[in-house]
Amino acid sequence: MKKRILSGMRPTGKLHLGHLHGALTNWKRLQEEYECFYFIADWHALTSEYSNTGIIKDSIDDIIIDWVSVGLDPEISTFFIQSSIKEHAELHLIFSMITPLPWLERNPTYKEQLKELTQKDLYTYGFLGYPVLQAADILMYKANGVPVGEDQAPHVELTREIARRFNHIYQKEVFPLPDVLLAPTSKILGIDRRKMSKSYDNAIFLTDSDKEIKHKTSQMITDPQRARKTDPGNPDICNVFSFHEIYTPKETVMQINTDCRTAAIGCVDCKKIMSQNLCAALSPIREKRNALESDTDQVKDIIARGNQKAGRIAKMTMAEVREAVKI
Ligand code: TRP
Ligand code: SF4
Repeated sequence: MKKRILSGMRPTGKLHLGHLHGALTNWKRLQEEYECFYFIADWHALTSEYSNTGIIKDSIDDIIIDWVSVGLDPEISTFFIQSSIKEHAELHLIFSMITPLPWLERNPTYKEQLKELTQKDLYTYGFLGYPVLQAADILMYKANGVPVGEDQAPHVELTREIARRFNHIYQKEVFPLPDVLLAPTSKILGIDRRKMSKSYDNAIFLTDSDKEIKHKTSQMITDPQRARKTDPGNPDICNVFSFHEIYTPKETVMQINTDCRTAAIGCVDCKKIMSQNLCAALSPIREKRNALESDTDQVKDIIARGNQKAGRIAKMTMAEVREAVKI
């Protein structure tokens, strides 16, 4: 029997290269080894987008299409929508009764987001309980592992504590303790060298056209010390070079490495080569996306089948939970 893993994404906009290399490539790789559940965390999106819900609905199909386009396989993995499985809300409520407030208040992701996302009012009950809902997502399917980036590791840790506490209070081993499966960190940054994010306006989206990609890559900040073409550059600190390492054939990467250090290549030309390779790599993804966009029935069917499978498991887990809690 394969071990089970589960991970989710909040539908708050189109996917970009940060998602591709930070999560999706890893999810794709894990499909062979594990029984995978990948879902759209639309209730989680609501914690920050409660007054801007249009974006949530609009992104859901788009993200499912992106998943399939990059090679996640709905015949192997299960894709579902969180809000379609109402049991998540019930389990969240039960967990909220047994989760000590200090566990949530000291959550580093919570503290950081409150500080960073100042343009939104996040002092809500729901936002504080974000990781409790995440624990419900994970434990509902009794996942053994949760592939996430470093920022989400505290949430999985909290999930383990909630599982342990539930099993202890109700004297029944209902939930296994899930492990964090830390995704290999992706080196690629946004075009301004900050973390790639839609809200920083520095992202290259999976849906960008060749023209947009060409323009965005031409704007990329390179080695900041390299002011003139005649100055030698340092690829180790250049974001364009990190892109080359992903998209450019190895020999060319080695050549660029030397040419950059000896000022034999200028950044404009270097970016052009990278941009062409990036466009070539995204082109099959775009082709698949175009095909799926014109076949909305297929997308609906993928979601319906995933929801059905997830729903069956959720029902069984909740039966066990209600029996343990005796309510
Ligand atoms: N909080 C996750 C994120 O922002 C999304 C998420 C919700 C999730 N529920 C989950 C991830 C359960 C893994 C498992 O990326
Ligand atoms: Fe970066 Fe290429 Fe310029 Fe070197 S030549 S600094 S690798 S963009």
